[in-house]
Amino acid sequence: MAPMVLKTSFKGLFFMTSCTLITLKVTFFFISSIHSTSKLVIHDHDGHHFDLKPAVDDDRSAEIYNRHISTQRQYEDVVRILHEEQPSTSTHVDGLRPGDGRDSDGSSPEVTGNPPWQGGGGQLPNLVKTTTTVVHDGGQPSARSSTPPKGKVLTDNEVYHDKDIFKENYNQMNKSLKIYIYPHEKTDPFANVLLPDTRGSPGGNYASESYFKISLSRSHFITQNPSEADLFFLPFSIASMRHDKRIGTGGIKNFIKDYISTISHKYPFWNRTGGADHFYVACHSIGRTAMDKAPEVRINAIQVVCSSSYFLQGYNAHKDASIPQIWPRPGAPPTRHPSKREMLAFYAGAMNSRVRESLVRTWINDTEIGVHQNRLKTPYSDSLLGSKFCIHAKGFEVNTARVGDAIYYGCVPVILADHYDLPFTDILDWSRFSVIVSTEDIQFLKRILKGIVDTDEYMKLQKNVLKVQKHFQWNKKPVDFDTFYMVMYELWLRRSSIRIHLLNE
Ligand SMILES: *[C@@H]1O[C@H](CO)[C@@H](O)[C@H](O)[C@H]1NC(C)=O
Ligand SMILES: *[C@@H]1O[C@H](CO)[C@@H](O)[C@H](O)[C@H]1NC(C)=O
Ligand SMILES: *[C@@H]1O[C@H](CO)[C@@H](O)[C@H](O)[C@H]1NC(C)=O
Repeated sequence: MAPMVLKTSFKGLFFMTSCTLITLKVTFFFISSIHSTSKLVIHDHDGHHFDLKPAVDDDRSAEIYNRHISTQRQYEDVVRILHEEQPSTSTHVDGLRPGDGRDSDGSSPEVTGNPPWQGGGGQLPNLVKTTTTVVHDGGQPSARSSTPPKGKVLTDNEVYHDKDIFKENYNQMNKSLKIYIYPHEKTDPFANVLLPDTRGSPGGNYASESYFKISLSRSHFITQNPSEADLFFLPFSIASMRHDKRIGTGGIKNFIKDYISTISHKYPFWNRTGGADHFYVACHSIGRTAMDKAPEVRINAIQVVCSSSYFLQGYNAHKDASIPQIWPRPGAPPTRHPSKREMLAFYAGAMNSRVRESLVRTWINDTEIGVHQNRLKTPYSDSLLGSKFCIHAKGFEVNTARVGDAIYYGCVPVILADHYDLPFTDILDWSRFSVIVSTEDIQFLKRILKGIVDTDEYMKLQKNVLKVQKHFQWNKKPVDFDTFYMVMYELWLRRSSIRIHLLNE
């Protein structure tokens, strides 16, 4: 069955995947064989991930399914060769396996201390990148771009899946997108949670949440007329609720339940779509469970969140959107030429996940990859400026501010966070400015990174990091193509295109 489908329509393959797991395995085989040989146009969020979310209400049950899914590997061919060289040192970290993390044959999956090739002498095989070209046509393409260019080959300095489509859609979005914010008085007892706090500059780890609200309130996307709105913004801030003694962590679920109940009684907009044209923005990971008492928000509304893992029960990549966690830094980013970046790679952070433990355990004594589990004695910025690669390792969540930190300091991010739906993946081709390494390949990190530096690949990646900086920057008054506008674009892609207008509107 599969080969016939292949001949006629590749898209058919993706629909078939929903049939049965057996079919999926078969098609997976074909997909991976196509990947290595031809250019593909995939109208899919991410060609490597299928919606296999188990119906069990437990994130960890996803681990069972994970084994059947190839983790996104940017340097697939290299890693395959390295695995063949060292077949006995397979490492499975971060609970990619069920149970206590031991393989069924009893061997420990833990990362071995010092792999024999850690000295880094060996020459890497040529880095052959897959020629897969993912063209995202913007979901709701404009008339002109309804047929995406077949297998258009990207040039090396391109950071977008398709710049022309992005620009065209962006212009349309910029002209037409209209957002209605549920209005609240300054005297509302929960004004601190519902209104943007424009007094100072947002700071800290969850600043993205506050910046979004400030930017939106100062943008031209707002309409006072709900009948012309494409989307409705639910303006509660989860980070503010946490700090409000009247609500606190324990009260967030009830607050949201009450809020939805209030607006669905007071206004007609929620009921007519069940919330499908509504969205909220949250960066704190507590947002993961915040909708537990308002499941219609989780199921129907667009959730713009930092903790965007493909395997979180509360996150659906095609409906929801990933927002970067950005530690705000004022002013123009500092620059440092790659030749002056003496460390190969750098990581610092608390040991709160198996990925981090494995990373630190593997590279703790290395002189080229600096890993730190304690507070640095030197300024953080020195390390970000002094390293060629900056490692983002999954902690409690797939996201941290480190990706934004790396980009700000012109350091090529290394993503060690399996199943992270990276911010703006619809638009940006992350393989052009970052290195995505499977957490199973921590032991090969040095070989992979050195291989990139030894070719001129590194220079391209680093130049591209500078190009995407503007997309990972908040401004109090939004600036074209900054994080705010990128989020607007993601929302625009996800807006409902068919509106049913009620008679009494
Ligand atoms: C790192 O060095 C320390 C001190 O020499 C040693 O005890 C430890 O086993 C080393 N760790 C690894 C992973 O090589
Ligand atoms: C987007 O719209 C704003 C407001 O009309 C305008 O100032 C800006 O130049 C537009 N951006 C682009 C890229 O056209
Ligand atoms: C929306 O639906 C709820 C539940 O069915 C109902 O109680 C409420 O009155 C409706 N709101 C409006 C504005 O009609």
